[in-house]
Amino acid sequence: METPISEIRREYSKGKLTQCTIHDNPFEQFVEWLDDAIIHKEDEPTAMIVATVSAEGFPSTRTVLLKGVENNQFIFFTNYESRKGKQLAGNPYISLSFVWHKLERQVHIEGKAEKCPDKVSDTYFATRPYKSKIGARISPQSQVISSRMEIMRAFVKEVFKLAGRDIKRPDNWGGFAVTPTRFEFWQGRESRLHDRIQYILQKDGNWIQERLAP
Ligand SMILES: Cc1cc2nc3c(=O)[nH]c(=O)nc-3n(C[C@H](O)[C@H](O)[C@H](O)COP(=O)(O)O)c2cc1C
Repeated sequence: METPISEIRREYSKGKLTQCTIHDNPFEQFVEWLDDAIIHKEDEPTAMIVATVSAEGFPSTRTVLLKGVENNQFIFFTNYESRKGKQLAGNPYISLSFVWHKLERQVHIEGKAEKCPDKVSDTYFATRPYKSKIGARISPQSQVISSRMEIMRAFVKEVFKLAGRDIKRPDNWGGFAVTPTRFEFWQGRESRLHDRIQYILQKDGNWIQERLAP
């Protein structure tokens, strides 16, 4: 007999998080946990849920891949005219969530997103596989299309058009850099008494660290 959904649960017991051992700097803590996720072969360790809010105040989420943590900013790449791109243009406040199931960990980050300088987007675009570059150029991300055939035709047409030429980054595609104001690190513990430690950015640029109830 199949297990009812309500009966699917497990104990978390693989680690702990204490204010004695956690880094003072949340970026250092994040990088350590991301490295752990990579070493422990989590599926898609750089995948994060990105939440944005529409002009009407409605939230929406989707998964994107983290492409760097540089100068205290979290970088991802997308289509600026996508649903998330348009929402960020109207409201730059954003939330990022990582879940690493093998390690029984999650991290939430809240902050403000801004477009990356063109040079940063160009540099990353240049490293993308050929077909991903073509895809970024021809896909009107998040818009309604008539069929898969429509996008496949556009792809093939672009391949022929650009044959042998340098593939440039389209203007409507590039990076967002997120500057955090809050981090939360969560480690699953026995009896659902999980460890949660948040960092809040202060006006003087320092981070305060606090333990939260599970
Ligand atoms: C594992 C995974 C990684 C993804 N990475 C990206 C990404 O880096 N950039 C991106 O624009 N979309 C990425 N997507 C697709 C998005 O989840 C989403 O469908 C797309 O960006 C359109 O979102 P929007 O309509 O909310 O703007 C990824 C999806 C998955 C499941």
